[in-house]
Amino acid sequence: MRSLAFNQREQSHIDALRRQFSAFISAEFQRLLAGMSRASFSITSSSSESTAEPDIDASAEQTRRTLLLGALATTACLGCSVQARAGEDPPGSDERPKKGDQLVFSDGEQEGKLITSADIPRGGPPVHAWPKDPSTSVVRNASRLNEIMIIRLDPAELDEQTRARAVDGILAYSAICSHAGCPVTAWVKSDAGDKEVFKCMCHNSEYDPRASAQVVFGPAPRRLAALPIALADGSLSVAGNFIGKVGGVQPG
Ligand code: FES
Repeated sequence: MRSLAFNQREQSHIDALRRQFSAFISAEFQRLLAGMSRASFSITSSSSESTAEPDIDASAEQTRRTLLLGALATTACLGCSVQARAGEDPPGSDERPKKGDQLVFSDGEQEGKLITSADIPRGGPPVHAWPKDPSTSVVRNASRLNEIMIIRLDPAELDEQTRARAVDGILAYSAICSHAGCPVTAWVKSDAGDKEVFKCMCHNSEYDPRASAQVVFGPAPRRLAALPIALADGSLSVAGNFIGKVGGVQPG
C-alpha cells in the first residue's frame, strides 16, 4: 500500500483542520446539550396538559436527540486526544504559561522545537505554540487553553497599547476563541475591512492583533487573551501571565 507523505505546510494545515473539526464538534455538542436542557424543561412543564399523542412525539424527539448526542459525543472523542491523555500527562503540563517558559511549535514537522524570532514571519501567518517549562522540559500541552498564536507585525500598524507589549513587532495571543472555545486557526482578510485578521472558522469571529485582538466581526463577546513575551538573543519566552480571560463563554 502507498504511504502518504506530507510536507511541513501540508501537515500543519492537516493538524489545524483536525483541531478545528474537533473543537467545532465539541462546541456544537455543548450547544446541543444546552438546547436539550431547554427542551427537556419545556416538555416537563407542559406534560400535565398534554394528550397521549404529544407525549409520543416528545418521546420520539427525545430518542432522536439522544441518538444524535451519542453520535456527536463519539465523533468528538475521536479528536480529543489531548484531553484523553490527561491522566498520563506529567505534572505541570496543564498549568497556564508562566514567566520564563520557553515557546515551542505546537504542530507540524517542527512540533516541540524551540521557537526563535527568526521563525516568526513578518506580517503573518501566526505560528502556533505551546509554553514549555525550561527547568523540567515539560511542554504545557495537556490543556488546550494553553495554545498560543505568535505573530510579527509592523510596529507602525499597532495601536499604542499593543505596541507597548510587542517585542520587535512580535505579539502572542491565546489561540482559543472567546465565543464557544474553538481554536482560532485562520489568518485571512477580514469580512469587516481590508486587513488580515485572526479568524475562528466555527462561527466566523474575527480578531485584530494590531489592536489587542479586539473583536472586529462575528459573535465573539470579547478579545483574545494576550500573553506578554520577552525576546533575548533571538529566543522567545513568556514574560507574564495571560492578560484577560482565556477560553470561550458558555454556549447559548
Ligand atoms: S467558537 Fe464561535 S466563533 Fe469561535
